[in-house]
Amino acid sequence: MVSTIDLSQTSRRYLPPRQTSTVSPNQSLLPITAQVSSADHLMVGGCDVPELVKQFGSPLYILDEATLRATCRQYREALQRHYPGESLAIYASKAWNCLAVCAVVTQEALGIDVVSAGELYTAIEAGAAADQIYFHGNNKSLEELQYAVSVGCRIVVDNWHELRTLVTLLGTAAAPVPILLRLTPGIECHTHEYIQTGHLDSKFGFDPEQLEAVFDYVSQQSGLACIGLHAHIGSQIFETQPHADLGDVMVHWLQKATQYGLPIAELDVGGGLGIRYTEADDPPTIDAWVATVSQAIAQACEQRGVPLPRLICEPGRSLIGSACVTAYTVGSQKTVPDIRTYVAVDGGMSDNPRPITYQSVYRSLVANQMSSPLSETVTIAGKHCESGDVVIQSAALPALEAGDILVIAATGAYNYSMASNYNRVPRPAAVIVGDGEAYLIIRRETIQDLVRQDCLPAMLGKRVGSLNSDVDHAVSE
Ligand SMILES: Cc1ncc(COP(=O)(O)O)c(C=O)c1O
Repeated sequence: MVSTIDLSQTSRRYLPPRQTSTVSPNQSLLPITAQVSSADHLMVGGCDVPELVKQFGSPLYILDEATLRATCRQYREALQRHYPGESLAIYASKAWNCLAVCAVVTQEALGIDVVSAGELYTAIEAGAAADQIYFHGNNKSLEELQYAVSVGCRIVVDNWHELRTLVTLLGTAAAPVPILLRLTPGIECHTHEYIQTGHLDSKFGFDPEQLEAVFDYVSQQSGLACIGLHAHIGSQIFETQPHADLGDVMVHWLQKATQYGLPIAELDVGGGLGIRYTEADDPPTIDAWVATVSQAIAQACEQRGVPLPRLICEPGRSLIGSACVTAYTVGSQKTVPDIRTYVAVDGGMSDNPRPITYQSVYRSLVANQMSSPLSETVTIAGKHCESGDVVIQSAALPALEAGDILVIAATGAYNYSMASNYNRVPRPAAVIVGDGEAYLIIRRETIQDLVRQDCLPAMLGKRVGSLNSDVDHAVSE
């Protein structure tokens, strides 16, 4: 017997449950399949979370396939509904790039945005078609550009250095290399300053003052096919107005680019839609965001008498953020009288660097006692040697004991992808769940994995297995 999460002190703090078909997953704290079992356990994708931890270990990223697929479909269908021309949603895989996630979004007919050779390689290995891949980045290396040209993906050119480097590679390409030009639109939005990218003082994109010179230069390169313009204004944005403004700015530049004879057929408006991390967050729905972007581009085209371009958008966080939870095991506790109680879990800033980097706030619940009264207010601390390694500053929870399974909601975006081995802590495993089945998608690192890339030259001591034999040899010569 399971019930949806709408009861007790735990659920009282969630928004009322919505119909799965109408919920916009970015507005949901938990994956859309989240339920409470008769054993009072959290279930995701039909799987009992404490059981998953027993089976796959702790900490564990638990990705709900149904939420991820529903979100992909919502973007696809909203574009069809609101945009009168051709469109494509591409997944900003920096949010979480791994084979399984890239495979799901590819099956759902989305393209993929990549920002490094590593992300590009993963997308291709997962089955993404080259012409559905967009390669971003403000400092792509020569090798990365060579790789992108050989693969035939679209390259989003960010600056003059990249443009000139790319031109030196054109002889190696069988056909004109498809590029988009990234521009800095000069739009500010209210989000953390590290994740604002559209204001003029940004490391990304061509400054508007340079753009006409860029158009002129590109128009003289027969080996380049400049098929589009791109901009991205930031992340975790709750206002829709900046995206409406962006539409107008982009169509203005589209019109200018066509005056230079560039065959611009696509406008890529980036991503940025926010998600609900706590009850205090109230982002627009995916449908509302897509409607804003679509109407802005369509209206600006009509006003300027410009044919409708293909509309591309690049959601990352809002596509995968709410599809995943992280399960930790509770360990030590420390009470500082009259100040606070720290409850420590077996992960922290190495598997989720967002709280220490952006002061992000998360919601937690206890997977093995979902309806127990929220009798305590505690600080959830990570296990790292850093006082700032705090997962949640102030969490209302039931009384906790070592061994309880603490779950943090909405960890699908920028958690695994920003994870590190700080303190030589192995990165956790990840599973994808659906219909009561769980499949490993990322193996847990072992402590042996941690020394795999280390080299111990002979002069520093004893060899460590055979891993270092080449280096030993080279150094001793
Ligand atoms: C170029 C570009 N596109 C898309 C995204 C995805 O943004 P979000 O995860 O906020 O949707 C980012 C992230 O910062 C980005 O830099």
